[in-house]
Amino acid sequence: MTDGLFVAFEGLDGAGTTTQARRAAAFVADETDRSPARSAEPTDGPVGTQIRRCLEGEIEFDPETLALLFAADRLDHLHREIEPRLEAGDVVLVDRYSLSSFAYQRADGVDADWLRTINARARPPDVTVFLDVPPAVCVERITADGRGADRFERVETLEAVDAAYREAIDAEREAGNDVRVVDGTQSENAVADEVTATIERFL
Ligand code: TYD
Repeated sequence: MTDGLFVAFEGLDGAGTTTQARRAAAFVADETDRSPARSAEPTDGPVGTQIRRCLEGEIEFDPETLALLFAADRLDHLHREIEPRLEAGDVVLVDRYSLSSFAYQRADGVDADWLRTINARARPPDVTVFLDVPPAVCVERITADGRGADRFERVETLEAVDAAYREAIDAEREAGNDVRVVDGTQSENAVADEVTATIERFL
């Protein structure tokens, strides 16, 4: 049986991860003989639901507890959805994965080594696509969308998250994991073309 392919999409809020994961799934469905499987973190499972309640300000967790919840949601996601689809030979496209924790929770003051420890059981994706968009552009996009800014969406916060993403990308590459940086300020079609070219190389 064909091996599955595990692709994670990463970037700041407003970078376009959801749009590009959707476009990549359409490409896999229409242009290849493989089946796409899309999902996102935080998930809509039991742990992810608590995380979303926190992001919406309904309940409060300290940064370390939230980091543990994201790590738990990730393992649940991996075991419940990602691994079965990979075993079936599908192309699994996830909107956010461990790199989000290394960026967002790190920017929220959580220790980098401890974040690695609690995420150590979450196998790395075959390739991570990082959509590179400057924080100020992300905030403009979020505002233009009419979406409310959650706790991670203020520009200064996004600047800290962006810096943490860069460090995390270097660390991933040093660990032998594949991270591709795509200029996310290009047109939606141009970004999609670059992303699909990247994915195609793994098929
Ligand atoms: P997001 O993809 O923006 O969800 P939606 O588009 O449905 O609002 O994710 C919600 C937020 O969660 C986003 O600001 C990033 C944050 N996040 C973390 O802080 N750590 C993580 O490990 C993950 C997966 C997400």
